[in-house]
Amino acid sequence: MAPDASDDIERFRERYAVSGTDALLAAEREALGSDYQGNGYTTLAEADLIGDLLDLGPGRLLVDVGAGCGWPGLYLAERDGCSVVCVDPVAEGCAVGRQRAAADGIGHRALTVRADARSLPIRAGSADAVVHTDLLC
Ligand SMILES: C[S@@+](CC[C@H](N)C(=O)[O-])C[C@H]1O[C@@H](n2cnc3c(N)ncnc32)[C@H](O)[C@@H]1O
Repeated sequence: MAPDASDDIERFRERYAVSGTDALLAAEREALGSDYQGNGYTTLAEADLIGDLLDLGPGRLLVDVGAGCGWPGLYLAERDGCSVVCVDPVAEGCAVGRQRAAADGIGHRALTVRADARSLPIRAGSADAVVHTDLLC
């Protein structure tokens, strides 16, 4: 990671370590319509729109960059039946995402990888679609 990014990463690390309380999930459901422990502004309706545009489905591979706890990549994988790789440098978020994928029964086609967007551990040309929500904020 670049040195100037470490404060941001620490901030996300602290947040993901305590996210998932009933109160936060209720607020997320009310504000965004989702309950993936999201950490941005992307609503369920917007995630559906992204999914509709990406032509996902079984056998396709989606990469979600800066996925945090897996929003919206895990949702789209469940919705459309594709595989997903959720990439985020924060281990706590990746762990939450892994648990969510297992709980939703999509663990066999959902991978969470701790990595930086600037050097993705993904072979060029292997993804069918890439999504990022609120990564560039
Ligand atoms: C505002 S959150 C959005 C998370 C998720 N996409 C969502 O909508 O809930 C931004 C995410 O980008 C991640 N991030 C920050 N710098 C990154 C980088 N260089 N490469 C990949 N992800 C990064 C953070 O750890 C954080 O999880």
